Amino acid sequence: MTLSDKEFRDVARLMYERFGIHLTEQKRTLVAGRLTKRIRNLGLANIGEYLVRVHADKTGAELTELVDRITTNHSFFYREKDHFEFLVSDVLPAIKARRERDAGFSLRVWSAGCATGEEPYTIAMAIREFLGATANTADWGVLATDLSLAALREAIKAVYADNRVRELPAAWRSSYLEKRGEDEWAIKEDLRRAVMFKRLNLMNENYPFKGLFDVVFCRNVMIYFDPPVRRALVDRIYRYVKPGGYLFVGHSESLPRETCPFDYVRPAIYRKADVR
Ligand SMILES: C[S@@+](CC[C@H](N)C(=O)[O-])C[C@H]1O[C@@H](n2cnc3c(N)ncnc32)[C@H](O)[C@@H]1O
Repeated sequence: MTLSDKEFRDVARLMYERFGIHLTEQKRTLVAGRLTKRIRNLGLANIGEYLVRVHADKTGAELTELVDRITTNHSFFYREKDHFEFLVSDVLPAIKARRERDAGFSLRVWSAGCATGEEPYTIAMAIREFLGATANTADWGVLATDLSLAALREAIKAVYADNRVRELPAAWRSSYLEKRGEDEWAIKEDLRRAVMFKRLNLMNENYPFKGLFDVVFCRNVMIYFDPPVRRALVDRIYRYVKPGGYLFVGHSESLPRETCPFDYVRPAIYRKADVR
């Protein structure tokens, strides 16, 4: 199946308006390829008929199917590893020192655009490594959100192929994963319980969070967005970060200094100014 100019424009407009996703012309073949099977399964003739179906479905389920097919949820454990090293060596000790001085330790981390869960589980491993023996009693948690229901289902299943866990330090692998069959690994129960998964469209004007976060990871998500959408997203995330808290983005997603409300710390790491 191929897409006419108009059909591609219609899909692209819908993705942009609802999810901020900017589909460039180079994505035309990919979009056609990914939608063909769905359209055939529904017994429809073409993308025009499919879009009528998407708009007519007031439950939003078909729109979810559509976006699940178009987004790429590629991820792996310990991706961009210097982020996890910096988290353990600098960010967590600073938060701990400060909290203990103020009101006792607590830590909230948000993985925004968590895909199939590798990122939030790696964050939870890093936190457990840092907290050591106190990890079971300390007040901490990781919230992980994504738009894609299919990705979230995988994340909750928490079973991964060998190639996804390859980058993890061997000690972390043996502490937090258990082998399942030939070449699969499952996240151990303790770690699973530390991460809560929720569906969230980052384009929503407001997010349903009760408190603010010490650290936000929003990595390899902004690659989907154009500069105005990126800027609006960073401004929105900023509202949910504690003073002195951190934002990690993907290494290919640096934020323009002129408009970024966060201070630059090091490549792909930003910090919200502290209150004086
Ligand atoms: C490439 S994955 C990144 C996964 C992980 N953060 C990492 O760096 O490995 C990008 C994720 O962003 C999600 N995403 C794209 N647009 C989104 C939106 N508007 N709201 C929430 N998630 C979105 C996609 O569903 C996908 O799972």
